[in-house]
Amino acid sequence: MRTQLFRSAQNALKKSSYGSATPLSTRAFSSSSSPERKVTILGAAGGIGQPLSLLMKTNPLVSTLSLFDLAGTPGVAADVSHIPTRAQVIGYDKYDDLDKALEGSDVVIIPAGVPRKPGMTRDDLFAINAGIVKGLVERIAKYCPNALINMISNPVNSTVPIAAEVLKNAGAYDPKRLFGVTTLDVLRAKAFYAQVAGIRPEGVLVPVVGGHAGKTILPLFSQATPQANLAGRDIEGLTRRTQDGGTEVVNAKAGKGSATLSMAFAGAVFADACLKGLNGVPDVVECSYVQSDITELPFFASKVRLGKNGVEEIMGLGSLSEYETKALEKLIPELKESIDKGIEFVKNASAKE
Ligand code: NAD
Ligand code: LMR
Repeated sequence: MRTQLFRSAQNALKKSSYGSATPLSTRAFSSSSSPERKVTILGAAGGIGQPLSLLMKTNPLVSTLSLFDLAGTPGVAADVSHIPTRAQVIGYDKYDDLDKALEGSDVVIIPAGVPRKPGMTRDDLFAINAGIVKGLVERIAKYCPNALINMISNPVNSTVPIAAEVLKNAGAYDPKRLFGVTTLDVLRAKAFYAQVAGIRPEGVLVPVVGGHAGKTILPLFSQATPQANLAGRDIEGLTRRTQDGGTEVVNAKAGKGSATLSMAFAGAVFADACLKGLNGVPDVVECSYVQSDITELPFFASKVRLGKNGVEEIMGLGSLSEYETKALEKLIPELKESIDKGIEFVKNASAKE
């Protein structure tokens, strides 16, 4: 049984996959033939920003890597610039330089903002991070309105609607270009599933839909490949562990922040997929939280096909188990509340301006 599962995992690995653990452009054009691409990281000197800067410096699809943070960015830029890869690196640490940091960007990745401490929910970060995201997206709307935005800052369920409203107000909203990064949920679902199924994780695929907080994270283990036919009890345990994956790391770090290394890897996987899509690589599919009409909610995470303009196709949910159907019904009110909170925040802020 395990040998069979291992073989089918290896076969799946040969095909295009999402949340791929060998992401960093090994399947894309070589650097000599790939177009010039500028990637900007906002929050580049932080816990996620630094390892993400490192990973993006090693991506041959990146020709310019622009790093922005409130402090420390020139140091991070000098450090990663000594790695002999294609990307030219520039670090900025002044708000007045955001125009230079952003202009010409193809992809802007945003891990700017505060992380959780034990006992906090992601929504507890709203009070600080909503304003940070609003300010940064206003600059994106002004200086690189065509960039694909990869939103990492929490609470993602609200920061993506915030970004959408800000872009709408600036007349620069293209729903195909705005993404909430939920790749870490996919990586966790894959890692935990492989562990329980007793197989190698590399070829495992598990779609994760919904949002990015607690029960709004819904891994679809009924659609996992290879199918290990786990008991209901195991599926429930895996679902809970995936939903609580962030909290598991927050508690283990005991006050020193949340996931940074796995998140940097997840961010690099997702940005790499965006670059491949922009470059016309076919069949690039990742899960992401985007404007969507596959449920009654205006934003929802599901499998998304990426192309030259960003979102090329939002894929449906596929067939769900009874357990997943019930979990989907239960997550809708919480996700709706977070979406509405983000939209209201920008409306209220605009009314005061
Ligand atoms: P961190 O505190 O280590 O780093 C955040 C960085 O953002 C800091 O360097 C800070 O100076 C910078 N920053 C703050 N305001 C800024 C602004 N206006 N412009 C530019 N930079 C600014 O935090 P971290 O661990 O890197 O986490 C960052 C965010 O990512 C948090 O909100 C966290 O909850 C979130 N996160 C999301 C996921 C996900 O799956 N989407 C996973 C992990 C963490
Ligand atoms: C995660 O899933 O690790 C992030 O959203 C960070 C957090 O606060 O859990």
